[in-house]
Amino acid sequence: MIAIGCDHGGFELKNVIIDYLKSEGYEFNDMGTYDTNSIDYPDIAHKICTAVTNGEAKLGILVCGTGIGMNMAANKHKGIRAAQCSDTFSAKMTRQHNDANILTLGGRVIGPELAKDIVKEFLTNEFQGGRHQTRVDKMMSFEN
Ligand code: RB5
Repeated sequence: MIAIGCDHGGFELKNVIIDYLKSEGYEFNDMGTYDTNSIDYPDIAHKICTAVTNGEAKLGILVCGTGIGMNMAANKHKGIRAAQCSDTFSAKMTRQHNDANILTLGGRVIGPELAKDIVKEFLTNEFQGGRHQTRVDKMMSFEN
């Protein structure tokens, strides 16, 4: 299951991504926001991160204007490794090497076709473990 959310700055792009998830047959939970009224991105980031850390969702996608606020808010959550991506290579590598569990995107930064390609890379690549697990473990130890 994929948890997906946005603020008003990411609303349009989130809908594009939802259409993509539907077309690919992914199970997802759209946790808002559901219109373009101004809201605070940390509130949505918190919902998506909670869904990921409690096991309800395997991965999360967060969209705001730049993706940066969502990324910062998400990475304040224990157990979350959020990656801000504006290119497909980073989206692939952050799954393979960093075991990122949240993808953040900028609805005012990238276009719909690139966004769909980024989401595809994020969702179809798996963590490679091995030496990368050691590095992820070291990184996560900073939380304690
Ligand atoms: C909202 O105007 C904007 O600040 C937000 O969408 C996001 O870009 C924050 O990082």
